[in-house]
Amino acid sequence: MRRSVLLGTGSALPENCVTNADLATRIDTTDEWIVERTGIRQRYIAAEGETTSTLATAAARKACEAANVDPESIDLIVLATATPDNTFPATATQVQKQLGCRGGIAFDVQAVCTGFLYAMGVADSMLKNGMGSRALVIGAETFSRILDWEDRTTCVLFGDGAGAVVLESRDGETERGVIASKLHADGEHKELLYVDGGPSTTGTVGKLRMKGREVFRHAVVNLAEVLGEVLEQADISVTDIDWVVPHQANARILDATARKLGLPAEKVVVTVDRHANTSAASVPLALDTAIRDGRIKQGDLVMLEAMGGGFTWGASLLRM
Ligand code: COA
Repeated sequence: MRRSVLLGTGSALPENCVTNADLATRIDTTDEWIVERTGIRQRYIAAEGETTSTLATAAARKACEAANVDPESIDLIVLATATPDNTFPATATQVQKQLGCRGGIAFDVQAVCTGFLYAMGVADSMLKNGMGSRALVIGAETFSRILDWEDRTTCVLFGDGAGAVVLESRDGETERGVIASKLHADGEHKELLYVDGGPSTTGTVGKLRMKGREVFRHAVVNLAEVLGEVLEQADISVTDIDWVVPHQANARILDATARKLGLPAEKVVVTVDRHANTSAASVPLALDTAIRDGRIKQGDLVMLEAMGGGFTWGASLLRM
């Protein structure tokens, strides 16, 4: 049996931390409204010169350090982002260059907030098929650049950042590694969460548009369903899980999903208060946070899950 084993994680945030109170000086909102509706207290916003690739590279370096591997030994980089440095080339190629590793495979995956789960799925399949031996899977975003800062219903919800993991292909591994994954997409609901620009339509980058209340409803239903599918695929029950690391969109979505599944709240890693919604970066950022603060340990059974624009959604179970 060949498994993709997680060797290490890393993350990076911009220097500039913006609190709800800071936002309230610029737009018509309050700390109370944001905390009560979302659980968000602050977010990090990229400064000029800080880009998706610079954040991704910083996170990738830390993941390589934690994994105790030389970046030059990486032969596959899969980077999830909806906010690439340029329309092309893929931001992953610029991370490859900044890391100083050449010649391997490097490309981007775009599934918005589910991007990291999609990137993990792609990297895991490629490692299992022998198309690489050691992979960096990265989620990195600068969503602040596609927010409409005049729209208080969306601009308070998002932040910038990056998270990365090193996955290694191991023959004969039966304990550790990615155990089961399930991914979905349904293009029916594009108008509920999308960016109103793009190279092939308006020729502009565009701004994020969202009908938050409807996204909320779909998120809880889809996430509970896909988590059930992965549990069934792995033939385990919800009580076997040590930690759930969800996409950090909104504390109320996390609570509602946990309740629907019968998961105790203390098993859910929550960082949305500190990072806000960092889209594809949120799952690896939360995973890295919980590993570095000692909550998630080797041998733990960890469920990752996310839902985002498209809609896209998915979950992945791994033994640390
Ligand atoms: N500050 C203060 N008031 C605000 C506000 C803000 N930042 N944003 C909206 N409001 C107001 C609205 O104008 C509205 O006022 P009105 O009743 O006078 O018209 C009121 O608050 C309620 O707005 P509504 O949009 O119905 O609130 P809600 O309870 O649905 O909460 C979200 C809004 C966005 C927090 C919530 O729907 C949500 O979290 N949805 C999921 C979004 C998400 O996570 N998307 C990403 C998935 S990847």
